[in-house]
Amino acid sequence: MAFETPLLAPSLLAADFTRLGEEINDCLSAGAQWLHCDIMDGHFVPNISYGPFIVDAVRSAAPDTFLDVHLMIENPDKYVVPFSKAGANMITVHQEICPHLHSTIQHIKSTGCQAGVAINPATSVDLLYPILPDVDMVLVMSVNPGFGGQSFIDASYQKVYKLNEIRKQMNMTYLIEVDGGVQSNNATKLIQKGADVLVAGSSVFKAESIPGAIKEIRARMNAGRADIV
Ligand code: DX5
Ligand code: ZN
Repeated sequence: MAFETPLLAPSLLAADFTRLGEEINDCLSAGAQWLHCDIMDGHFVPNISYGPFIVDAVRSAAPDTFLDVHLMIENPDKYVVPFSKAGANMITVHQEICPHLHSTIQHIKSTGCQAGVAINPATSVDLLYPILPDVDMVLVMSVNPGFGGQSFIDASYQKVYKLNEIRKQMNMTYLIEVDGGVQSNNATKLIQKGADVLVAGSSVFKAESIPGAIKEIRARMNAGRADIV
């Protein structure tokens, strides 16, 4: 699947779950291209969110939208097939919890999903070298995973820059996604550094107007892309 980047992926974690379908529609009609689903197990991260049942409901509410499923869980291999069946298009696992990362990435791909790898704020990009040719996306966590609404960690810019440099030098095609504390005031710089996909939770769903926030962030993202082409 080819995408015209940059892409905005609202994180449903911050949505009003009593009105999930309506808020999804608000996002999509305002121009959000992907939807980001955060799966937390209370073990790998100190919070519990939701499982395949909700992803399946999101798929019903948005039959044609790319679902970006971020697994912040132990034993992700065990849940790849259920999330794939629920409608995931991309499944991203954390480097820190996958002792056999290459095998896990191949397992994800065997379901027909695209495969991503995520790194926490304290994990170096250097650890990803061996797996970069095999992944469709690298997710840079710009907060410590577990909760929405945290402040963006500035060291993330350098990671995005480095991943973009490696991608150019090695002629690779993985997308670079940034997740955590993204808002209109850092969106332009993130795209300038080389990010392709920005995840935004609170800055979209806690805004006065969801469509207004989507339009504003997308405009800031497009300004960043205009600077580098
Ligand atoms: C954090 C999640 C993020 C989070 C982003 O563990 O992976 O996707 O929902 O939320 P904001 O945009 O509020 O930081
Ligand atoms: Zn996420």
